[in-house]
Order: sequence, then structure tokens, then C-alpha cells
Amino acid sequence: MLDVVKRLPEQIEEALKIKTDFVFEGIKNVAVSAMGGSAISGDIVQHFSKLPFFIIRDYYLPPYIGKDTLFIAISYSGNTEETLACFKEALKRNCKTIAITSNGMLADEAENKILIPSGMQPRAAIAYLLFPLINLLRRNGIVSINCEEALYLLKSERNKIEELARKIAYEIKGFPIIYGYGILASIAKRWRQQFNENSKMMAFDFALPECNHNEIEAWEGIVEGVTCIFLRGVENERVKIRFDFMKKIYSKKAKVIEVHAYGKDDFSKAMYALFLGDLASVYMAERNGVDAEPVNLIKKLKEELQHSRSSS
Ligand code: PA5
Repeated sequence: MLDVVKRLPEQIEEALKIKTDFVFEGIKNVAVSAMGGSAISGDIVQHFSKLPFFIIRDYYLPPYIGKDTLFIAISYSGNTEETLACFKEALKRNCKTIAITSNGMLADEAENKILIPSGMQPRAAIAYLLFPLINLLRRNGIVSINCEEALYLLKSERNKIEELARKIAYEIKGFPIIYGYGILASIAKRWRQQFNENSKMMAFDFALPECNHNEIEAWEGIVEGVTCIFLRGVENERVKIRFDFMKKIYSKKAKVIEVHAYGKDDFSKAMYALFLGDLASVYMAERNGVDAEPVNLIKKLKEELQHSRSSS
């Protein structure tokens, strides 16, 4: 897993070359239907969308998804049942549909599709799940994101990011709780998912300012066995005050690691933080003595769901 994760910049270069030349007319909103490692790319691009942008992690489409929706089904395996259910419903509602997938039923059933390389763990295929999506949205005038700047940053900072990731992994005591604001809240979610799946450990994520209206009160009670990780670098002056206040309170009961996301723009900062978190989760797996690659329980549950479908 470490070798695959380290190759993120090269994967981005390859992903940017994938053909995405689909142009749709009359789009009024965008919906990304996806789960887990396939859904996080939707979370990231949502921050840059010029149109209302919805992420659907469910079997059902909300009523406002219709013929003016650009509906993007993203599933690395192409066999995720929630995404397939939404895809079928989107076709019925005459949405403008397109799929991003490597394989499976989604590849078979979608007329408009962006095919990405197969044979990886979905979460390790982030470059292929994110950058073709960005190119599709750029082509349709929905986002303006400077991918090239982010790529340059990751390539030139790779060694330093790797060193920092290892340091963070070896500093964590107990369960990590990751906090972020704006696009870095989506990256905090990615860190949490990567600690869960790669490092096989409990982890939590919270978004500012919302967590200042609830989670903060938990720090009045017993807090043990956690390390807080603050993802900083995109916040405004008001949110800076919030982070500084939290640091004062939280560091009385837990170790607080502050990570500064570098980059010339918010997208580059997000990619910097994502690369760092992905690497940290793999080093954490090493520390936990587990194999980062397999996700046995996710697989078992999917098999059970599949079995119940075929026997009903
Ligand atoms: O990381 C993983 O393996 C999972 O979170 C999957 O991405 C999730 O189960 C959805 O599967 P897929 O990405 O194949 O649609």
C-alpha cells in the first residue's frame, strides 16, 4: 500500500490524461452518488462548484434530483448496491447521467462512462476517482480548479510530506480525532476513513464551526486516550480564534497536533493534506502491525448482502 500511496503524483498525471470529453446542456445542479472511498472525490469538488451540488450516500435520490441534474455515479468496483440503485432511479428520472468506474455492473449499464484503471483498492485509486471528475466538471463550466498547481506541489514536496506523515503517525497516542474547516473538513473525513480502513483503528472527524456548538462540551467531561489533529491553513480570522480556543482547552486533556496545509490555493492545500493523511494512515498501519491493504469486514458484509439478494 505504501508504494501505491507514494505514487499519488504519478497517478494524478495519468488520471489527468483520461478522456472525459462529455458535454451536457442545461445543467442546473449536480449530484454525485457514491459511497466510501468513491464518495470523497465528490466531497472535495463540492467546495468549488458554481452550481448546487449534492452528494448522495444512500439507496434513494431526494425529490429535487431530476432532468436538470447532472447525475454522476461514482463506484470504483462498479458494483456498490446503493450507487447502482440511485443510478437506476436517475435514469428513470431522465437525469443527464454519467458514470466513473473501473468495472462491474455500472460499467455494463452506463451509456456515458469514464473508465479508470482497475485492480486497486478504491481508496488508493483517489487520483482516478477525483481528477477525471474535475476534468468533466471543468469542461462543463462547473468548477475552476488548478490541478497542475496541486500536482507540482505534491511532486516537489513529496519527501517532506512523507517524513512529516511518518512523524505524525508515531506521535499519535490512542484514537485520532481530526478537525478541519471548509475543504479541510472534507479532508479530515478522508483522514478518518484512512485511519479506519488502512490502520484498522477507531478514528473520528469533526468540522468547524459546527463542532463548536456541540462536540466542544464533551471536553468538560472525561476525555482519555485520544490525539487531536487540527488541519489548518484555509480558515478565516473568526475560525482562527476558534481553533486557538480549542487548542487551549483540548491540550489540557489530549495531545494536539497542528498540521499546516501548504499550497498556493485551497485545492492545493487540500491535496497536500490528503497526501499527508493517506501516508500517515499507512505508517500508522505499520505501527499497529496490520496490513493496510485488505478490508475484510467491508468485503464480508458486501458478500452477505449479495448472498441475501441471490437467495431472495
Ligand atoms: O475504501 C473502500 O474500499 C470502500 O470505502 C469502498 O470505496 C466502498 O465500499 C464503495 O465501493 P466502491 O468504491 O467500489 O463503489
